[in-house]
Amino acid sequence: MESSMSYAKIVGSGGYLPPRIVSNDELAAELATRQIATSDTWIVERTGIRQRHIAAPDVTTSMLATKAAQLALDDAGVTAAEVDLIIVATSTPDFIFPSTACLVQANLGAKGGAAFDVQAVCSGFVYALATADAFIQAGRSRVALVIGAEVFSSILDWSDRGTCVLFGDGAGAVVLKASEEPGVLAAQLNADGSQMKILCAAGNVMHGKVVGDPFLRMDGQAVFKLAVTALARSAKEVCQQAGIDLADIDWLVPHQANVRILNFLSRKLGIPDEKVIITVDKHANTSAASVPLALDAARRDGRIKSGDLVMMQGVGGGFTWGSVLARM
Ligand code: ACO
Repeated sequence: MESSMSYAKIVGSGGYLPPRIVSNDELAAELATRQIATSDTWIVERTGIRQRHIAAPDVTTSMLATKAAQLALDDAGVTAAEVDLIIVATSTPDFIFPSTACLVQANLGAKGGAAFDVQAVCSGFVYALATADAFIQAGRSRVALVIGAEVFSSILDWSDRGTCVLFGDGAGAVVLKASEEPGVLAAQLNADGSQMKILCAAGNVMHGKVVGDPFLRMDGQAVFKLAVTALARSAKEVCQQAGIDLADIDWLVPHQANVRILNFLSRKLGIPDEKVIITVDKHANTSAASVPLALDAARRDGRIKSGDLVMMQGVGGGFTWGSVLARM
């Protein structure tokens, strides 16, 4: 690469989970009061999920996003005033408008710069990261905050045991800085809108009323199959783009939906389990927040170090999927 070319380098990360932890047993007991049968055994065997964090009813996505963003700024040693781009990936924004990114900008006391949301459901963070990378490479941003944040508990049908046990709330963030040193090496994004029905929340507020179905609906088995195939193909393509061998990847940080999806994926790619970051057991599926939360957890516990080659992957509603390859 030419020396004038800027890389987007991850210089800090932060993660925030609402304090209330709901174990599978607690959730099963709560559902049992409404004659809905589930169990810790079923949830663990089918998904690997053991608990999730659930936000209090008055807590919004921008609140979680702001906490994660502040932690990421502190970690990077960057002030809010230096940030010239804020992208929030979310499917559970506070409002129809303004964007959650604008609310975060105000909460942080940052002024000027661009702020907008990205909607790609569980692929949202990877989409937002690829977008911020493109801004930095084009010289349109020097310091960017990329956040994935969700209060997914607010769009769950708590009488549908096939979905309500799978998700949790939280936020994760990274700070990207323009750098001469390698950072993001390649990005690969995809969508297939013809598959919208297998995972959607097909409702809205119109003319003062909720129209359509405001809750998440999913064909679990269809999502499972598509997710594994799409992520495996995307991993190979992003490596090819960067001229990197899959075997050279130090850490795979995939979207955290289900341990079984991650096991199938790592086997398909020939990546040893020790190189796969897993947080879904503790966080459940936090949609757009899952990848930055997992990345932050592994940076903070010392597994992911400076210089490591990391592949982040998202997959979710849309249908959408994609990968970002980054040198830490
Ligand atoms: N507790 C107990 N039983 C349940 C529960 C529950 N929470 N949910 C469903 N069941 C029952 C079903 O009713 C069904 O009963 P039946 O045989 O009497 O009809 C039985 O369990 C089997 O149901 P399936 O849906 O076939 O179970 P499956 O093994 O496919 O597991 C699951 C379901 C976990 C959703 C799985 O399909 C899956 O993981 N899919 C991936 C989807 C995913 O992770 N989505 C997250 C969002 S998408 C994303 O982030 C990419």
